[in-house]
Amino acid sequence: MFAKFKAWLEHKRGEEQLKFTQQPLLINGRQFTIRQARFTDISAIVHVEELIYGTAPWSASTFQIELERDYDRLYLVITYDGQVVGYVGCSFNWYKHESHITNIGVSPAYQDRGIGSKMITLSEDYAGHHGYPKMTLEVRIHNLKARKLYERLGFYQTSIRPHYYIDNREDAVEMEVKL
Ligand SMILES: CC(C)(COP(=O)(O)OP(=O)(O)OC[C@H]1O[C@@H](n2cnc3c(N)ncnc32)[C@H](O)[C@@H]1OP(=O)(O)O)[C@@H](O)C(=O)NCCC(=O)NCCS
Repeated sequence: MFAKFKAWLEHKRGEEQLKFTQQPLLINGRQFTIRQARFTDISAIVHVEELIYGTAPWSASTFQIELERDYDRLYLVITYDGQVVGYVGCSFNWYKHESHITNIGVSPAYQDRGIGSKMITLSEDYAGHHGYPKMTLEVRIHNLKARKLYERLGFYQTSIRPHYYIDNREDAVEMEVKL
């Protein structure tokens, strides 16, 4: 019991702001950078969403609210030549012992070269290092590309949420990986 309380106290002490140290990434001979997202990245992130979906599912103000929660959210961006080409968000719930991928996207021109996988594995490393035993996410049932990627990274299906997405009432597949 005391050990549990001590762990909680230690977590509270470090709760102020989640921090991620910038890293260089060499992908197919090209130099990318992964770093923590800043408020000034929001328009570039929304632009990546527009390139992916045609229209951005998350508005700038949604990203703003997420980035403001710097005590339980970690958003990373991958940049190439100073431009944001991908982003991933993770939420952390210490009481539920759960980390959760909230959103991920890679600019279409930069997909299929390992950027998405790298962002997920770095998020997993971060969560594991901070004591989270699992990571969860939900994905549209028809998003076979993303589901395949998550499965390749060790995520497995835990349940289906019928009609979870309000735009087209598509089911969500809930997935989880042990860290
Ligand atoms: C899902 C998404 C984030 C994946 O990002 P990505 O950067 O394309 O992912 P990766 O490149 O790591 O993996 C994609 C495929 O490329 C392959 N790949 C990885 N590195 C590669 C390389 N160097 N050369 C060629 N192929 C490569 C992977 O093996 C993977 O293949 P798989 O589908 O057979 O598993 C991206 O496709 C995306 O933004 N999709 C639209 C938004 C979306 O669906 N988001 C998820 C919501 S839940």
